[in-house]
Amino acid sequence: MVPPLIQATELRKEHRLGDATVTALCGVSLTIESGEFIAIMGPSGSGKSTLMHLLGLLDHPTAGSYRLGGRDVTDLGADERARTRAQKIGFIFQAFNLLGRSTAIENVELAMTYAGVPRKERRLRAVTALEKVSLGHRQHHWPGQLSGGEQQRVAIARVLAAGPGLILADEPTGALDTATGREVMALLQDLNRTGRTIVLVTHDPAIARYAKRIVRMQDGCAISDEAVVRDVGSDDAASQGLACPEKTAP
Ligand SMILES: Nc1ncnc2c1ncn2[C@@H]1O[C@H](COP(=O)(O)OP(=O)(O)OP(=O)(O)O)[C@@H](O)[C@H]1O
Ligand SMILES: [Mg+2]
Repeated sequence: MVPPLIQATELRKEHRLGDATVTALCGVSLTIESGEFIAIMGPSGSGKSTLMHLLGLLDHPTAGSYRLGGRDVTDLGADERARTRAQKIGFIFQAFNLLGRSTAIENVELAMTYAGVPRKERRLRAVTALEKVSLGHRQHHWPGQLSGGEQQRVAIARVLAAGPGLILADEPTGALDTATGREVMALLQDLNRTGRTIVLVTHDPAIARYAKRIVRMQDGCAISDEAVVRDVGSDDAASQGLACPEKTAP
């Protein structure tokens, strides 16, 4: 039997601030199968980014365990965590996380360098990915010369090109206008259709509807976990102006 891609058990994260302890995550258990598209929602401060950092091996839990692809990664050393991140995980975060001193194409290539992709292939895959996000003509521009939406599309191109199986996106549309946000979500949906697992943090219910499952958080705890019910051909179609009442009328 294939193990779940993500198996987090009672993950807990505390921060010590002098004498005080802030509990950012109170013991969250979460199982995510390969190929899922899951949204994490909840008010500001409820622990969403903390959970993403733990799932992305960017931080250690105070307690609990984490298995990624069946392997216990809870206590990996820094080198092994970096290697695992480079090979298996793509990040799309609101602050874009692009290197300011590298051009768009260099930013896209970098993740592949870490993952050990040969140089010629890196360039080819980076160009193809930038074209896919409609930035083929901006390859040699610096992040500072790109708009927020364009920078976010570079971050997506990076994930497209490197092809990690797990994509963690923390408020990927938070800094974007509605139309650009929809474009970004359409790209994420394409990635999910090609088999990538997506974990998305969002405040926006319209964005969360792109996912197939929604986990809600509050005060560091997961308080609900539900499948997104899609009423095929009714409200979705109607909201996009696709409903055609005349045709369904007797
Ligand atoms: N380094 C830190 N030191 C102390 N407290 C922290 C630290 N990082 C996070 N916290 C606290 O942990 C809690 C959860 O923070 P987290 O960033 O995970 O929230 P969030 O759900 O992502 O919020 P937002 O929607 O505002 O991004 C908050 O109360 C926050 O203040
Ligand atoms: Mg956050």
